[in-house]
Amino acid sequence: MQVAVVGSGYVGLVAGACLADLGHDVVVVDNDQAKLAALNRGEVPIHENFLPELLHRHRGTRLKFSDDLESAVRASSAIFVAVGTPPTEQGEADLSYVESVARGIAGAIDGYKVVVEKSTVPVYTCDWVRRIIQRNGAETDGFDVASNPEFLREGTAVTDFLYPDRIVIGADTDRCARVLREIYAPLADGSYYDRPDAIPRPDRAMIPPPLIVTSAKSAELIKHASNAFLAMKISFINAVASICESVGANVQQVCQGIGTDSRIGQRFLNPGIGYGGSCFPKDLMAFRAVARECGYDFRLLDEVMRINEDQRQRFIRKVRSALWTLRGKKLGVLGLAFKGGTDDIRESPAILLIQSLQQEGCQISAYDPAAHDRAREALNSGITFAESAYEAAHDADALLILTEWEEFAVLDLKRLREELKYPIIIDGRNLYDPDVMAAHGFTYYSVGRPASSPEPQPVPTPERPARKNAKL
Ligand code: UDX
Ligand code: UDX
Repeated sequence: MQVAVVGSGYVGLVAGACLADLGHDVVVVDNDQAKLAALNRGEVPIHENFLPELLHRHRGTRLKFSDDLESAVRASSAIFVAVGTPPTEQGEADLSYVESVARGIAGAIDGYKVVVEKSTVPVYTCDWVRRIIQRNGAETDGFDVASNPEFLREGTAVTDFLYPDRIVIGADTDRCARVLREIYAPLADGSYYDRPDAIPRPDRAMIPPPLIVTSAKSAELIKHASNAFLAMKISFINAVASICESVGANVQQVCQGIGTDSRIGQRFLNPGIGYGGSCFPKDLMAFRAVARECGYDFRLLDEVMRINEDQRQRFIRKVRSALWTLRGKKLGVLGLAFKGGTDDIRESPAILLIQSLQQEGCQISAYDPAAHDRAREALNSGITFAESAYEAAHDADALLILTEWEEFAVLDLKRLREELKYPIIIDGRNLYDPDVMAAHGFTYYSVGRPASSPEPQPVPTPERPARKNAKL
């Protein structure tokens, strides 16, 4: 089938490349000439496993890049809208790009088309897109609008698209549902997975994935509810980690004990410095706003966001309790991206923490395997970019681990100890075992677990407040 994807960002480009790999003829439309030129030169603008292979496999044949929305719409049966939906000042989703694309599509409809929302949009957007297209001249029965939310995690987006836990199709007519079923048939009937050149299968793959057909509104809500629930799970375990710190328990043990309950599950129970990225923070604010507009005061989401913000403040206090004064201290920092496996620094907790520490007068030397260039643009000159973890640690008063890159979990601890001015590590992602770190001569702080140190003397536990009405 001929399909168009509007927007060649983190979602649109991956969706276009994967739809081509399913056998469709895809044109990816973007209004950013520089981006189009780079894509047509064969460049890969984002750090995604298997994306280079797919672009190389299909560019110029099944996958084309263009700035001509009208031609793309005329040639396609389905048009996926994957343009940005950034937050406004008030935290609502800015749908102005979606609206401008809807207007552009309306003028080009010359036969039945399915317009598919791929971007994360608030519930009711489907109704608005339909209204905009009608207002701009399209015949009411000349098109349908569907919602097909994506559940792509950055760094594994290609695998997440081709091996999804589920495919959600929000369609309000059978005709529209039929088009989308045909588009996803190679996944839903399992035939894609029999191909010798299929992208490698991840461990927990659902093969074939269930294809769930809902109303458009339900599909829009599924996306917001999914992200809100996942963010809530992270804030929940971060709050439990803080309680563990207060009483001297070990959150890793608590996670094992609760995560083995199949109703809870072990995944997304990693305490740390809080969630970031271009989705969770934005989608929670948007969900909160659209719930309020629909008459429901979803205050639980405020608490999820508050805990997330507080997690970073707690980490700063942990650094201060480890070093006493911060002004002038030299800190080695591992990680700039919002999570391991990506070069994206949008809403990165690591970047936000570095900016706070700079305000406290710290000198920062940071290393990240992929996010250097993007971070260099975002951070002012006050930070040194190291070429390796060991260079970042060189002569530092302490080493901070802020992003869960796999390579940060297997460092040469002996070499690290030699590089550091003082053997102090403050791990915001719990990548190491405290006893192992003490055995290697480090004073080691982490999240939700007792601090450890090589000397027998007790290490100050940063967050143990004086017990109320304790008997003196
Ligand atoms: C976007 C949304 O931000 C996210 O909420 C949703 O889940 C998926 O789509 P992302 O792909 O990261 O995420 O957006 P972005 O990286 O901003 O890319 C959007 C692309 O659309 C850009 O390349 C931009 O040039 C292009 N665009 C934007 C258009 O082609 N036309 C427009 O009118 C607006
Ligand atoms: C998320 C959703 O997972 C995905 O389904 C949706 O389509 C887009 O948003 P993404 O933001 O790319 O994906 O990354 P994700 O792996 O979800 O991590 C989000 C943030 O939470 C990162 O900052 C990560 O470090 C943090 N995180 C994740 C935790 O702190 N603990 C965890 O257990 C998992």
